[in-house]
Amino acid sequence: MCGIVGILGSKPVATDLVDALRRLEYRGYDSAGIATVENGHLERRRAEGKLRNLEGRLLTEPLNGHTGIGHTRWATHGKPTERNAHPHMSPEVSVVHNGIIENYRELKAELTAKGHTFETETDTEAVVHLITDGMRAGLGPKEAVKAALDRLQGAFALGIIFAGHDDMMIAARQGSPLALGHGKGEMYLGSDAIALAPFTDAITYLEEGDWAVLTREGADIFDRAGAKVSRPRVKSVASSLLVDKGNHRHFMAKEIHEQPEVISHTLSNYLDLSTGGIKFPDLGIDLANVTRVTLSACGTAYYAGLVGKYWIERYARVPVEIDVASEMRYREPPLLPGGLALFVSQSGETADTLATLRYCKAGGQQIASIVNVRTSTIARESHTALPTLAGPEIGVASTKAFTCQLSVLACLAIAIGRARGTIDDKLQDELVKALTEVPRHISTMLRNEKVYEDVAHALSHARDVIYLGRGVSFPLALEGALKLKEISYIHAEGYAAGELKHGPIALIDEAVPVVVVAPDDELFDKTVSNMQEVAARGGQIILISSASPDRVGCKVLAHLPIPKAHPFTSPLLCAIPIQMLAYHTAVIMGTDVDQPRNLAKSVTVE
Ligand code: F6R
Repeated sequence: MCGIVGILGSKPVATDLVDALRRLEYRGYDSAGIATVENGHLERRRAEGKLRNLEGRLLTEPLNGHTGIGHTRWATHGKPTERNAHPHMSPEVSVVHNGIIENYRELKAELTAKGHTFETETDTEAVVHLITDGMRAGLGPKEAVKAALDRLQGAFALGIIFAGHDDMMIAARQGSPLALGHGKGEMYLGSDAIALAPFTDAITYLEEGDWAVLTREGADIFDRAGAKVSRPRVKSVASSLLVDKGNHRHFMAKEIHEQPEVISHTLSNYLDLSTGGIKFPDLGIDLANVTRVTLSACGTAYYAGLVGKYWIERYARVPVEIDVASEMRYREPPLLPGGLALFVSQSGETADTLATLRYCKAGGQQIASIVNVRTSTIARESHTALPTLAGPEIGVASTKAFTCQLSVLACLAIAIGRARGTIDDKLQDELVKALTEVPRHISTMLRNEKVYEDVAHALSHARDVIYLGRGVSFPLALEGALKLKEISYIHAEGYAAGELKHGPIALIDEAVPVVVVAPDDELFDKTVSNMQEVAARGGQIILISSASPDRVGCKVLAHLPIPKAHPFTSPLLCAIPIQMLAYHTAVIMGTDVDQPRNLAKSVTVE
């Protein structure tokens, strides 16, 4: 959730720390800071808000140390002020932290009673005082950190430097990812390999419970029990993933426009385009006899999963249990032996999704995950990782990752259906052909930018917007509302179209635009009735459909057409107008499209 970086360098490290933090801003951007060892003592610079504020501070008050740590924050404990910004420090030690220290209140009470003064509202400060306390009692840095780690509860990653120790940094991983980078006479630490890409491609990922003592010559890694362990050094492909906005104004726009290409890549990983068949990886389970699929994810990835449920149940005739991960992990549903548990995550680091995965794994399920970051924890802890080939998604609002997740889920539904005999050769041909046409259809739709922009002008005046969808379009209505609210801050809700009359219809009046996702499928006429109910109350209908608006029989404010295609692929096509509407509305309203307030790209806390 926050981004961590550390460098043991051969020259002043402040500029490189900030540079690495820029690549971690997707993890949080409420405040940022760095600390270095300056002639034996610790110094730090911090600033509220975006990284550029910290850069400004460093111009007037530079740091010259060769050893340093940095942090970009997404606030969990305490407001996003400079005082609460990381690094936190005492004269002896400075700490950057990602995650949550769950027992910080007890630790704070204990340390306060011993005479430590806390200055911030953060949980992290307890770590600083705990290590300081050990050092003041005579422990060396390594022993003091180990003693502190034994006391900490929660999911976290830490980077730590010490006064008087210019050639030492300690890293610890318990539940939040952390990568070590190996340079020539330099060592690095980062929340992910992308942060370290310009410095090195030689990466060691710490495992759960690992902690490491870094010097410029390398790293000694220890497990939770304190035994020295060896972790492989791998070559990261992150440097090839470094991205810019190209000709686009925002990453989100670029990522929306990349969809034809990345969907093609993703599909070609799971479809045999020469035979029109499917080439799905072995999930380590007999798909012909699978009796239940358990599916879980968060946010947009959950909505992708919900589409997957409709597809798997309809085409493969296997019941799918689905829930948001934050609920499923504590609901602890009974799991039938021999079940398949499927997780969907762009980052592969979402804490709730990971916890649910572990619950299902402990319950004997075969674990598969649809992930965009192949080196992520969720990918590594799954029996089978099914990559989406979306490339790095930088905009906080998920777009291309969503449609790539849908692409994998569509192929999975066909793979299960084939194994179970519910999809015959003819139907497989039809479905695979429909999928291969998706990139072309999306390219066509993306040329209609002006149409989306015009409708976005209408939405930008609204206080509330309602999204409706039926069947497989219901998750699209939920996703449409999420996309709009997260980047434009307009209140939006998605409902199953048939549920409208059971309450939400009370909200409809002339000022409420109603976006209806209704492809020309067997449910279209049912949704027409709901549109008429909306029109009768003066609601302004914006129709996303392959059907002509003439078939609605009432006034439609705007029609955003999707190409006529097999209904199977309608969720992939309907995603485009939904994303475009949200994007253009946010641009018109002048919000921070790529880094909307209060959000972060990767949510590694509960
Ligand atoms: C919304 C969005 C979030 C994520 C959610 C899960 O646009 O991006 O709702 O989908 O936080 O994240 P991942 O997919 O990384 O597990």
